[in-house]
Amino acid sequence: MEYGEMVLLRTFLKERQREFIVCVSEDVFHSDFGIIELSELVRLSPGDRIYSHKGQEFTVQKPRMPDMFRHAQRSGAPMMPKDIGMVVAYTGLCKNDMVLDAGTGSGILSMYLGSIAKKVITYEIKANFANLARNNISKAGLDNIEVRCGNIVEEIDKIEEKFDVVTLDTISSPEVIPKVRRVLVPRGFVVTYSPFIEQTIAIRKALDVSGPWDIMTIECIERPLSVSERGTRPGTGGVGHTGYITIARI
Ligand SMILES: C[S@@+](CC[C@H](N)C(=O)[O-])C[C@H]1O[C@@H](n2cnc3c(N)ncnc32)[C@H](O)[C@@H]1O
Repeated sequence: MEYGEMVLLRTFLKERQREFIVCVSEDVFHSDFGIIELSELVRLSPGDRIYSHKGQEFTVQKPRMPDMFRHAQRSGAPMMPKDIGMVVAYTGLCKNDMVLDAGTGSGILSMYLGSIAKKVITYEIKANFANLARNNISKAGLDNIEVRCGNIVEEIDKIEEKFDVVTLDTISSPEVIPKVRRVLVPRGFVVTYSPFIEQTIAIRKALDVSGPWDIMTIECIERPLSVSERGTRPGTGGVGHTGYITIARI
């Protein structure tokens, strides 16, 4: 591992897993499992073990996006991995793509997209949320995501770049859609995410007026199975409804 790199430290206590995200540095990491000199991580590779001064064993790993989803600071409701999967799959997001995103929120969607695409520019109206997202992005070690603070409804008129994919996870989506064609490449995508049917109807109406588009609206339902000695069946808890995803292509 290198100085400045984020590291996931994983340990077990009475068969229960505990995880911590730390940065390779000259700092000292304190937890109820003891102290670790973070500079010691420099000579280690993913999969290696490190021990606290109390002898507690930790496995060293490079955090991936699902780890960031669990450990990132939250400013509000992030997009869920199942829905992010839909965005990636239905747009065919790839390493050459330019992405415009709003609102940034905690930056979860931006980080997932940034871990695949060439560049992500994301707009957040609240300065404190923008800073929180910047902090999360820095911890994820991503340097291709630019967080801009501003109202996307106004800022989109000033944008000079062109985008392969535009993602809108904001209440303002119906006001952004009439302006989005100008910033999209030919056959580019705009994807919206909204928790309510009423918002989705407003988005579809805005798309109809600014068409033509190839459009579909979907809901992704994830149903984890509960596996136990008694039997295997769909779990009774977990995430229910999250949001409706509308995918429109020029
Ligand atoms: C549901 S959150 C986005 C969550 C984000 N997709 C994630 O995965 O972490 C919606 C965000 O949009 C921001 N927002 C609302 N209206 C906006 C606007 N007009 N321009 C930019 N951001 C806006 C809110 O402040 C909020 O942080």
